[in-house]
Amino acid sequence: MTTLITNIKELLQVRETNHELVSGEAMKALPTIKNAFLLIDHDTIVDYGEMKDSKGIVADKTIDARGKLVLPTWCDSHTHIVYAGNREQEFVDRINGLSYEDIANRGGGILNSAEKLQNTSEEDLYNQSAERLKQVIKLGTGAIEIKSGYGLTVEAELKMLRVIKRLKKDFPVKVKATLLGAHAVPKAYKDNKEAYVDLVINELIPQVAKLQLARYIDVFCEKGYFDLNDTERILKAASNYNLTPKIHVNQFNAFGGVGLGVKYHALSVDHLEELNDEDIQVLKGSKTIPVALPSCSYFLSIPYTPARKLIDAGLPLALATDYNPGSTPSGNMNFVVSTACIKMKMTPEEAINAATINGAYAMGISNMYGSITKGKKANVIITKKVPSYNFLPYAFGDNHIDTVLINGNVQ
Ligand code: NIG
Ligand code: FE
Repeated sequence: MTTLITNIKELLQVRETNHELVSGEAMKALPTIKNAFLLIDHDTIVDYGEMKDSKGIVADKTIDARGKLVLPTWCDSHTHIVYAGNREQEFVDRINGLSYEDIANRGGGILNSAEKLQNTSEEDLYNQSAERLKQVIKLGTGAIEIKSGYGLTVEAELKMLRVIKRLKKDFPVKVKATLLGAHAVPKAYKDNKEAYVDLVINELIPQVAKLQLARYIDVFCEKGYFDLNDTERILKAASNYNLTPKIHVNQFNAFGGVGLGVKYHALSVDHLEELNDEDIQVLKGSKTIPVALPSCSYFLSIPYTPARKLIDAGLPLALATDYNPGSTPSGNMNFVVSTACIKMKMTPEEAINAATINGAYAMGISNMYGSITKGKKANVIITKKVPSYNFLPYAFGDNHIDTVLINGNVQ
């Protein structure tokens, strides 16, 4: 089955050769072809070029994209979409003056979600999560990382990871799973955090590795959650099981989490709303990509990750949603791209690079996703008729997506 997309006003993120990621100054360039065609065979991109060079190509199906843009689907490298229920009451409590920290200190926050999840059946959890996944695919997400971390017992963490495995099997989008056992100290271990870290190291990690339920390991490295010592113990243990770190660092406080991530060859360090010069220095020369989550900053009214500082220092940057019930109840990558431009002063080219090829790198899949490259998966967004790609982040809040193709199939 071949599909030919014709008369594309502009085909975005065309990379002849396979780029792993783009960094610094190179992020300012978004390679495109105007008045283009794209040829798909089954689930793979096989050809593209200018319309004038498409003569003679016959396909089983043709999609006319006159006036429309085509770009790779978004690669959302940081989400927590498997959760039970919501936390809209905490949202109202914050409006009325409580902080995210106040809510966590009185037993709400992540512990609230953990209690809900522990009391939700696996089937119900799957159905709630599948609904979110369907919704983000419609919004143009074609690859997604999903974390555990609302179980906080061996049993409930495994339940979450089995749900992620089932989503992976049932949906055509690429799914990567991350074990976030150390997301918060559970109530039962309130006065004995060490024992919980021991449980993560001695039971959770070995079981998850044995069952092959995750590829990555995450820790919420933050004051009041897990300190550098806890994080290092977990990363060290995980390295024996080939679980690569992708960690939550510097959301509220910068105290060396970035350096620790780099030391353990983290694929990504995520959040970075607080960032100091040492963090930037340590990232230089490493293969660890920083990931910014602007919807989280927006929702919690906390600082935005200093994208300019990172990119101007020559570093790469990825953008992701952080979709979760507490700090970011939104999985809309289009909003992330707009917000990155509006609030973080990223150019549209930088933001699109950060949300496609660099997002793919941040989940270890940039060899097959994140750009229009021959041989890569045919995961593409066809926009509505728009004047230019700058219009996508500019006209924020509108849905500019006409069609999403995943593995060559219209969703
Ligand atoms: O990435 N910061 C830690 N974890 C999530 C929020 C978790 C929650 O509030 O439920 C985040 O923002
Ligand atoms: Fe997160």
